[in-house]
Amino acid sequence: MRYFTNVHDLGDLKSALAEAFEIKKDRYKYETLGKHKTCLLIFFNNSLRTRLSTQKAARNLGMDVIVLDVNQGAWKLETERGVIMDGDKPEHLLEAIPVMGCYCDVIGVRSFARFESKKDDYEEKILNQFIQYSGRPVFSMEAATRHPLQSFADLITIEENKRVERPKIVMTWAPHPRALPQAVPNSFAEWMNATGYEFVITHPKGYELDPRFVGNAVVEYDQDKALEGADFVYAKNWAAYTDPNYGKVISTDRSWTVTTEKMALTNNAFFMHCLPVRRNMIVSDDVIEAPTSLVIPEAANREISAQVVLKRILESL
Ligand code: CP
Repeated sequence: MRYFTNVHDLGDLKSALAEAFEIKKDRYKYETLGKHKTCLLIFFNNSLRTRLSTQKAARNLGMDVIVLDVNQGAWKLETERGVIMDGDKPEHLLEAIPVMGCYCDVIGVRSFARFESKKDDYEEKILNQFIQYSGRPVFSMEAATRHPLQSFADLITIEENKRVERPKIVMTWAPHPRALPQAVPNSFAEWMNATGYEFVITHPKGYELDPRFVGNAVVEYDQDKALEGADFVYAKNWAAYTDPNYGKVISTDRSWTVTTEKMALTNNAFFMHCLPVRRNMIVSDDVIEAPTSLVIPEAANREISAQVVLKRILESL
């Protein structure tokens, strides 16, 4: 595997899950695979889990790791071709990317949607430039439209906790004061649609996601109805996708917050969220602190999902 940007890059999910569980049993089994190989992690945006778990995964495989926060200490980067660079950006991404490629064997990139141009965001302009110009295998650490390392960790967590073969998974929009990208819900939908699970998406009208990610999921605008019989509740906020509101907050309706009353409608469901989460906006204290909350196991599985991905990339070098 040379690139990891979406669920399809992983191929058969059953094999990927088997590999994840093998690594989870002994995460140092492949500790020499990455000897004398360098993993460069490039962050255009903040991170706690991705930053730590991906470094840990790379080190479990024996790799050296370099972390670059582009906005702290590097030259400010111009990303548009054709711009006369007489402003505050002294370096162009088109030189910076191949230079970065000189110092490593594998590159991880985090580059969120900017909400300046829906076209640029949904064409994954930044991530694809790394793929095109770095000369190295590239994996996404959350791009404009997807967060596949998170979704893989979510899938591992569901498989570890499911009580029936085909659980009902409900992804619910929840309120948030700021405009957040659609990468996590898009990606979660893409991964859930690749499984045989029953999958329902619920959100207020106006928060419809890109139909390419919704796929065959059932969309239910009544959150209470959607939650009935759920085995897993995956909460996430996202900004509007549809025009003319792309990238905007059009509701902060707190009746969508996941509370104990909402969870009582489910089949004693597990609660999931990728974190970071705003308590008592997205989810109540009681729900996130309950024994059925999987937020910490999900975060722990980020090390495992990253390690499967890096292992497969190293095996392809
Ligand atoms: N879930 C997730 O990607 O967390 P960070 O943004 O902290 O990396």
